[in-house]
Amino acid sequence: MVHKITVAIDGPAGAGKSTVSKQVANELGYLYIDTGAMYRAVTWYVLQQNIALTNKKAIAALLPQIDLHMEASKMGLCVAVNGIDVTQAIRKADVTAAVSEVAAVKAVRIFLVEQQRQMAKAGGVILDGRDIGSVVLPKADLKIYLTASVETRAKRRWLEIKDKEKSLSLDAIKKSVEERDYKDMHRDESPLVCVPDAVVVDSSTYSFEETVQKIKQLIIDKEGKNA
Ligand code: DC
Repeated sequence: MVHKITVAIDGPAGAGKSTVSKQVANELGYLYIDTGAMYRAVTWYVLQQNIALTNKKAIAALLPQIDLHMEASKMGLCVAVNGIDVTQAIRKADVTAAVSEVAAVKAVRIFLVEQQRQMAKAGGVILDGRDIGSVVLPKADLKIYLTASVETRAKRRWLEIKDKEKSLSLDAIKKSVEERDYKDMHRDESPLVCVPDAVVVDSSTYSFEETVQKIKQLIIDKEGKNA
């Protein structure tokens, strides 16, 4: 029997963490937890309540009202806040623009990290985010830092959204990727770091399939060692 492990995948915005993790999890029969979606869901709720993003106290006070539900389905991951399906809404530009600010609030991180640890408890999971290997699961069996050049990441994001959000140029997306990198890497609370025990995978020159294969192999090798 395969001994399933706990996998932490961290890296900057647009490195392909969620699409790659989802595919790898499907192929290997792991549970995939997109922690970025959890920060986005909280951000969606904060925006709904018209709270200023700078008002950390008010954001913290909202948390007990938030019942977050994540469910993997054939259509992908479904995210609900207090019974409302926000799967689509959390990918919109307003949430994307605000999420770094909300993710930097300490109380928000404490609230979500606790839920992430509970979900990962049983093992056989792939969590992707910014602080999985460093904070959420420092004892993960395998830590991967998935990255790619800023140019590659901006181009991928642009290809993803150009039909839906026609007004956004490649240059504007590159700027927003750089801004998000800076905020994620320089915040006080759990900044994005590449921990020393992570395997670095730079996907700049890989296709989606190649990246999936590479990460699958890392997991299979580790499963063998932990058996
Ligand atoms: O991966 P993503 O783009 O959906 O993440 C959205 C935001 O959430 C991103 O700006 C960083 C933040 N985030 C975080 O701070 N910690 C995580 N574990 C996951 C995401």
